[in-house]
Amino acid sequence: MIEKRINELIQIIHQASYEYYVLDNPTITDQEYDDFYKELLSLEEKYPQFKREDTPTQRVGGEVLDKFNKVTHEFPMLSFDDIFNEDEIAAFDERIRKVIQNPTYTVEPKMDGLSGSLLYKNGILIRAATRGDGVVGEDITANVKTIKSVPLHLKEDIDIEVRGEIYMSKSSFEQANLEREKKGENLFANPRNAAAGSVRQLDSKIAASRNLDFMAYFLPNPEDYGIQTQSESLEYLRKLGFVTNHKLNTVAHSVEEIVSVIDTLANKRKNLPYEIDGVVLKVNNLEDEKKLGFTSRVPRWGIAYKFPAEEVLTTLKEIKFTVGRTGKITPNAIFSPVHVAGSLITKATLHNEDYCLDKDIRLGDVISIRKAGDVIPEVVEVKLERRKEDTLPFKMITACPMCGAELIKKDANHYCPNDHCPARHIESLIHFVSRNAMDIEGFGERIIEDFYNMGYIKTFVDFYHLDKYKEELMELEGFGAKSILNLLDSIESSKQNSLERLLFALGIRYVGKKNAKILAEHYQTMDAFLAAHYEELVAIDNIGEMIAQSVVAYKNDIKNIEQINQLKALGLCMTYKGSKLVVDEAFQNKTFVLTGTLEQMTREEASLEIEKRGGKVTGSVTGKTSVVLVGKDPGSKYEKAKNLGIVIWNETEFLEKLNN
Ligand code: IVH
Repeated sequence: MIEKRINELIQIIHQASYEYYVLDNPTITDQEYDDFYKELLSLEEKYPQFKREDTPTQRVGGEVLDKFNKVTHEFPMLSFDDIFNEDEIAAFDERIRKVIQNPTYTVEPKMDGLSGSLLYKNGILIRAATRGDGVVGEDITANVKTIKSVPLHLKEDIDIEVRGEIYMSKSSFEQANLEREKKGENLFANPRNAAAGSVRQLDSKIAASRNLDFMAYFLPNPEDYGIQTQSESLEYLRKLGFVTNHKLNTVAHSVEEIVSVIDTLANKRKNLPYEIDGVVLKVNNLEDEKKLGFTSRVPRWGIAYKFPAEEVLTTLKEIKFTVGRTGKITPNAIFSPVHVAGSLITKATLHNEDYCLDKDIRLGDVISIRKAGDVIPEVVEVKLERRKEDTLPFKMITACPMCGAELIKKDANHYCPNDHCPARHIESLIHFVSRNAMDIEGFGERIIEDFYNMGYIKTFVDFYHLDKYKEELMELEGFGAKSILNLLDSIESSKQNSLERLLFALGIRYVGKKNAKILAEHYQTMDAFLAAHYEELVAIDNIGEMIAQSVVAYKNDIKNIEQINQLKALGLCMTYKGSKLVVDEAFQNKTFVLTGTLEQMTREEASLEIEKRGGKVTGSVTGKTSVVLVGKDPGSKYEKAKNLGIVIWNETEFLEKLNN
């Protein structure tokens, strides 16, 4: 009886959510909903044995994690290239037309949040993950379960992965910032940051309180559901119980039609309840998509058009000089806070002396500021006609604002020549822990500065000795035991980072994120990288003379080599873990399923090896599976593979193929 009533209540509540969020047509009142919800909650409290995995009462959150687990995406989570004008749309269309006759595109509003992957088994949400680097993301299931527009139980009991945008509506954003203001906390710059910060809360109750939303827009393996077009994917998603942008998603057959849809959306943008930052164009026919395929980074069958940057006027209050990790001095414009493209901003780089003199920028000037998407804010122009009297021309400083050393000028830039300038050290430490470098969570700029000044961290190596001061650090004012433990944990896990992160983190001049990846992919190990000569480096695609020279200069400094050796001795990973595509016919374009326990490697490692060779790894055996790799104690997948007559490899065969 009780169980039956619980089942009934769950059914009523799920249906009510579906009607509210998907159909936009509720058939019960809020009061009725609340009553059903309370009844369910009290029954679950009294009879926990009947509490179901898909119960809507989980939406309030409660689970508190100490860290997010990493998850490897079954299908890499890619994004599109960005374009910014009609010419680029025409060029995209032309590229498509070289391969496809009369293409049709879906034109979908580009939701401004963060992409998420939701995994359902038998129709029940079992895992949600962030995109991460596209291959490995973070498990945010507990937080995503609190999002009311995410169905916890689909309308069909199927296994499926769904992708979409996790976002914060404009009204929830305002509400969240109002609350933060009341508590004296820093405000979120924009709804996207707010959404990203909220899904990364370890306490799911906090995530629940942020009122996030989810809009579904993509199926990574639509063929498995008999779907032939992206439009059908969107329809199917809605049928399953997802919110899609069904009123605004359209199809177009020409550049003119695309541009007209963009114009309409640009006009509607201000009145939409959420932020959009452009439109996403996708070739509608999935067979056509297949023909177009991928470049080494992105799909060829889609593109993201971004709305033009918005410009806003403000007043220049101060020019503040900062010292970068190479000693470069940068003047920064500090102005009255303004909202640009959904972000609240207060400063923008003025690059160097010449830039300031060219613009003739002066304190008190009215300036226009622009920010396009993720791009850093810039000063577009000085409104000379609004300049007040008695303003003074810009004057470059002559001494380092941090250490007082006399600046030297090289080309257009000024540098602090002092190798021991604290600002340079602090900047390089901040860079080391940053998201694209070692990604050590919990280190804000302020903490690095404090730890530097207190003598805990002077070099990269010191991060990995910080655990010796655990007790001492826990006593520091402003740091709870928990935050120190999290910090140490995050430092420890950074040891596992793939080589490109370390190469980027070391701060070798001109070795940015992209070049670090190219070098890591090319050399695979730190030792091979360190052994490389100039000629070898310049011969690598995309590595120019300037980069090669800088790498050589870096390696010639014995202090740098000693530092790397110390990091190695501390257990930092010195190899590239990403996928280097090596064409291998045994793997290329084949679909693999793994079952059972492997002895020589983990399943994750095996998947990586398969992907490196151009194969794909999926979760379930279907007619499309090419090979099933069987370890010890295999599950039902093995039986199914045998029944379907699919090629089966044991671990030895697999290793042989790998070594071929
Ligand atoms: S499809 C292979 N559809 O914009 C790419 N993305 O580069 C599959 N986005 O990272 C993504 N709205 O976070 C797709 N209707 C939409 C989207 C959308 C927003 C985001 C997404 C992605 C980026 C596109």
